[in-house]
Amino acid sequence: MNISLKTQESPAGDVISPGLEGVVAAETVLSHVDGAAGRLILRGHDLEQLDGWSFERVLALLWRDLAPENAGEAEIRARLGAARVRAFERMQPALAALAALSTVEGLRLLLSLLPDSETESHHLVAVASVPVFAAAIARRHQGLEPVRPDPDRGQADDFLTMLHGVSQSPGNVRALDTYLVTVADHGLNASTFAARVIASTKAGLFSSVIGGLCALKGPLHGGAPGPVLDMLDAIGDADNIRPWLIQALDRGERLMGFGHRIYRVRDPRADALKRAVAGLDDPGVRIGFAEKVEREALALLAARKPDRPLETNVEFFTALVLEAVGFPRDSFTNVFAAGRMAGWTAHVLEQERAARLIRPQSRYVGPVPD
Ligand code: COA
Repeated sequence: MNISLKTQESPAGDVISPGLEGVVAAETVLSHVDGAAGRLILRGHDLEQLDGWSFERVLALLWRDLAPENAGEAEIRARLGAARVRAFERMQPALAALAALSTVEGLRLLLSLLPDSETESHHLVAVASVPVFAAAIARRHQGLEPVRPDPDRGQADDFLTMLHGVSQSPGNVRALDTYLVTVADHGLNASTFAARVIASTKAGLFSSVIGGLCALKGPLHGGAPGPVLDMLDAIGDADNIRPWLIQALDRGERLMGFGHRIYRVRDPRADALKRAVAGLDDPGVRIGFAEKVEREALALLAARKPDRPLETNVEFFTALVLEAVGFPRDSFTNVFAAGRMAGWTAHVLEQERAARLIRPQSRYVGPVPD
């Protein structure tokens, strides 16, 4: 067969959007990201209105009328507790395999133990399992044994207790709860889209959310908070803040934790996490230092890019919150997954109801046979 190098003509009116920018691929009642107004709406509530909500209450909101049991906050809390205990037992045979894997690969492995054929409430099992697995993985990486979950605790409280082996202060538990709520859902981001594509094939909820995790693993999506801490480490002390930032900008570098592709004004999640930082029991010197870096960076960016509003983004405060409550840097993506699992499961439930296979087309630009 002869293959010619002739490029195929595009059919008239065929529009390509390589990153799917501007393409609306799903209808959802779950969340809306309004980048121009700096607004994040979660099922009829501005993110600011969820201030003080527990993660379980947000789960009740997102799962309402999508999950079969339609449970409220208290029932979800109790069922998550029981499901964490089950997850702890289920992961034991696989723990030895974690040694050769990164933290997020470890989470991918442990989530793969969940069978799509099981009849339990998959959305609940998925959300309950992540903190159990993530805490165990973080401890294994430090040579420590996993800590058994306490089903009577709330999800954020138990997550920190399983990580540290002892109860943590109410302020730190609240800060983690706020973090999990803040990242629970964010429109049709890459990992949520990946989960919905898999759900649309009827592959099952666990397979769908594992696909979401695989998309989150990439540095362009879930792997960003580490570099903010690297920048704070590199600056070192307060006298070095301004000179360090000026030199970085002179070299044409981006300041980590500032700017956003969609939010053209402030990122409402940054504000929510800034409040969480303020509520920490012992914010410590690192937070005060970071706030000085933030003020100086915003002033320099405003002076250098007067036409392009560059505000603090969610990653800046994520790094501070997660470090302050004791997560090692290489666990940050797994903690992100613990929060975003709320959105992934709700989107999968919603997609399963839509019952429409997601199947876009490609434009062939290769050679065709004569
Ligand atoms: N520090 C310094 N300059 C920045 C900047 C930052 N954090 N973010 C954007 N800019 C500058 C760019 O250099 C560019 O300047 P130029 O027009 O003179 O070339 C201008 O602002 C517009 O940049 P652009 O790449 O169009 O912005 P974007 O919306 O595509 O980028 C990000 C969004 C998030 C990728 C970008 O702001 C960035 O790299 N931030 C730092 C990394 C980060 O915090 N990531 C986490 C995101 S949640």
